[in-house]
Amino acid sequence: MSHILVTGGTGYIGSHTCLQMLLSGFEISIIDSYVNSSTKVLDSLIKLGKEYNKDFLEKINFFKGDIRDELLLDSIFKKSRINSKPISSVIHFAGFKAVGESFNYPLKYWQNNLNGSISLFKVMNQNNCRNIIFSSSATVYCQTNSFPVSEEGIVAASNPYGQTKLAIEKLLRDLTNSDERWRIIALRYFNPVGAHPSGTIGEDPVGIPNNLFPIICQVASGRIDRLKVFGKNWPTKDGTCLRDYIHVMDLAEAHKASIELLFDNTQDNFLVLNIGNGIGISVLEAINKFQEINKCNISYSFVERRNGDLPIIIADNKKALSLLNWKPNRDLNQMCSDAWNWQKKNPNGY
Ligand SMILES: NC(=O)c1ccc[n+]([C@@H]2O[C@H](COP(=O)([O-])OP(=O)(O)OC[C@H]3O[C@@H](n4cnc5c(N)ncnc54)[C@H](O)[C@@H]3O)[C@@H](O)[C@H]2O)c1
Repeated sequence: MSHILVTGGTGYIGSHTCLQMLLSGFEISIIDSYVNSSTKVLDSLIKLGKEYNKDFLEKINFFKGDIRDELLLDSIFKKSRINSKPISSVIHFAGFKAVGESFNYPLKYWQNNLNGSISLFKVMNQNNCRNIIFSSSATVYCQTNSFPVSEEGIVAASNPYGQTKLAIEKLLRDLTNSDERWRIIALRYFNPVGAHPSGTIGEDPVGIPNNLFPIICQVASGRIDRLKVFGKNWPTKDGTCLRDYIHVMDLAEAHKASIELLFDNTQDNFLVLNIGNGIGISVLEAINKFQEINKCNISYSFVERRNGDLPIIIADNKKALSLLNWKPNRDLNQMCSDAWNWQKKNPNGY
């Protein structure tokens, strides 16, 4: 098993993926600046390891820092060894992710997401490490597609955040064209939700959450008065937007499967894969299911449509199902119960 560098490894998806990688026998170095995560995540991971009878302390090296700090990155590649193994691959989560915020602060998004990625790829190249899984997003698909959308769908992100993801994908493609030793998989995630079933790690948004599930959880726990549902006359089955929710543990497993494919696949050195369930769930269905499963009440009211929203975003996930040794295993019931379990156990986050 190899030693992987995980950028942004204490964030929401990163922490679940680190757990998955550690449980599968990988060793990991993590770099995170904590700009959007808690210093307590590492302790939670170590604690979870004990519940699985594993000592993760011996398997994790942690570096607090920014991926734009090339000197730090270079020293991590040169010096971070676990059981004498150097870093063989990277899973790259570090970046900002709020679509709405990216309209107001485009420089912040381009600087962090693009410059951070350029620094990372440059230092990887210098250190002869050219295997990478990149966190891309369904936001890259534009309105003119019909959904479910395959990886061949039209990409033209409608917001600065999505533009940064597209730009990084293009850069990665250029790298593989310039040097065939690069092996790259860009995973376009749809809507990750839920938490580890123990409630020890989960999503801990800073400030007011932007995404549906964290808002539902905070309404259920009384932190937020009511949920605003953006629009009730969309061209969908019940007039609310359809999204493709994927359990964060299924997403974490997709990373493990992608790392395995990176080593096995001798054909394509640049792959893009949609990671979703392939099922469209409306906002009202998500609210109703959450109430039913968790026996709680979610107050909501309809407000105007939100700028930039699309009525339907659903993945055609056939390519991932056929190439990865992976499939999503957790349904909406599980997403609702795990999200609420995390919220109940950690009403104020970590
Ligand atoms: N959560 C989603 O809905 C979603 C959907 C599609 C794609 N993604 C992408 O997946 C990745 C992970 O998302 P997440 O939900 O776990 O986000 P997150 O904010 O919880 O995690 C990102 C982590 O990166 C760290 N970070 C940010 N910039 C950094 C930098 N310059 N140097 C070092 N660390 C830095 C943050 O502190 C945080 O721990 C992001 O790239 C995001 O764009 C997320």
